Amino acid sequence: MLYLGIDLGTTYSLVAHMNDHGQPTLFPDYHNANEFRTPSVVHIGDEGCFVGSALEEMLEDEPELSQARFFKLAMGEPEGVYRDHRQRHWWPQSLSALVLKKILNDVEAFAHDEVAGALITVPANFNDAQRKATREAAQLAGLNRVKLLDEPVAAATFYGYNRKGAEQTLFVYDLGGGTFDATVLQVGDDGLYALATEGSNQHGGMRVDQFIMDFILDEYHRQHGVRPSDETTLMTLRRFAHDTKLTLVKPGKTKVAKTLVLAGKTLDFVLTRDLFHQMIDTFVDETLAVCTRCLKAAGLEWSFIDTILLTGGSSLLPLVPEKISRASGRPKDQLVCRQPHQAVAYGAAILAAQQFTGGGGAKKLQSICAYDLGIRVRGADGQPAVKVLVNKNTPVPAAESTTFYTNRADQARLIIEAVQQRETDQGQEESSLGFFAFTIDNPRAKYPVEIKLAYDLEGCVVITACDPETGRQMQQEMDKDSQAMDRELLEQQSWINGLVINQ
Ligand SMILES: Nc1ncnc2c1ncn2[C@@H]1O[C@H](COP(=O)(O)OP(=O)(O)OP(=O)(O)O)[C@@H](O)[C@H]1O
Ligand SMILES: [Mg+2]
Repeated sequence: MLYLGIDLGTTYSLVAHMNDHGQPTLFPDYHNANEFRTPSVVHIGDEGCFVGSALEEMLEDEPELSQARFFKLAMGEPEGVYRDHRQRHWWPQSLSALVLKKILNDVEAFAHDEVAGALITVPANFNDAQRKATREAAQLAGLNRVKLLDEPVAAATFYGYNRKGAEQTLFVYDLGGGTFDATVLQVGDDGLYALATEGSNQHGGMRVDQFIMDFILDEYHRQHGVRPSDETTLMTLRRFAHDTKLTLVKPGKTKVAKTLVLAGKTLDFVLTRDLFHQMIDTFVDETLAVCTRCLKAAGLEWSFIDTILLTGGSSLLPLVPEKISRASGRPKDQLVCRQPHQAVAYGAAILAAQQFTGGGGAKKLQSICAYDLGIRVRGADGQPAVKVLVNKNTPVPAAESTTFYTNRADQARLIIEAVQQRETDQGQEESSLGFFAFTIDNPRAKYPVEIKLAYDLEGCVVITACDPETGRQMQQEMDKDSQAMDRELLEQQSWINGLVINQ
């Protein structure tokens, strides 16, 4: 039986399992056995569907091919983010499903066992809609037994793997391609306990690439008086900006000087490492502000942290350890950066083996929720307000109830709006989970309805209502929006089933 750990990343996706020697191991790309990660990029055209490295290679020669990227950042938004050759609009979870299917094809090619379960990692700061979209992606890909796992928990597991010793407090700084998580965890021989988490979906390597793109576009404008805006040119420029970044972070590199041909015109440009660092200075400071908030939420200071773990590809930006070292008062060589690209997938594989088999030695795993969970009500001043039932950073699973009363004797349903929220440096961030309607069988005035809001083990929200007098659960009505969404997903499932992913 095969249990997989899948890091479904914004830029790269990886899949690992525990090998016969009890070591976490990555599966290679079917096409290229030296490649152990799949770029999260999809193309659907007349020749079929292409995913990952095969597509990246095609794009070198045919940059005008349509492509979907960074769709992880749009997870939870029920709308098309990519239009294929038949003008079909693909949702982010369907595109993620294609990445998962490609990865599963790789697994099938190299493993002789059947997949019996998979842990898929998500950023700790993914909200309910983003988590549910990830579950839907798994379902669309035909993966049956799936659990979600927070990325920093996976990275911390890999760090703690094979490590015996005293309890310690761990700070995980996880800066990936599209998202950033800061998490404080307690690690011990008996398990792993998350204490606080904060994050941002606006901070990742993609933003860093964007700074370089903007710099080049400004330079282009200065030299030619125009700013190219067509899709193909911008995609080419993005790839170039990405390569420039990877060159500039190499030890000893002080500048990149190149002549580019963009939209039919040549452009000479020089970017020094110093200037690059100036461009991203505020960006890195912002991630540190998130760290400060996370420490505060855990009631700790840097001095209480035993180990600072850096993970995610973008934590390799030299400014990151530099600034963390300064903020934490810890020398750079004491910051731990162990296989930052693979740590999440490895940790997920270790936990998949433990969690699905449930055998002896399974350690306790305590995750927390990254958002307050509540119900929109009318505040004392008559203005809408959120009555928070489960506070952010509460260990999950967690559930709290509150009782509402109907207004009229003939009121046959009670409708509530559930909300997730959190405080960020930009102010209060709020997302509605939608309206939930419950049917009342025997209406009467001031009928009590107990609403229970819960986070399950994977940080997804479950909402139920019951009659507190009889304890009987009330029927939830499906609203038009969810019905339309279900229909849409069914249709996309048929598109996926009708596609062959070219290997
Ligand atoms: N040496 C490096 N220096 C700076 N950035 C790097 C380096 N190597 C990779 N990156 C960047 O790291 C990012 C990819 O990291 P990673 O694979 O951890 O992200 P991901 O898992 O795809 O994203 P996320 O976790 O946000 O969903 C890319 O933006 C890439 O450009
Ligand atoms: Mg990642």
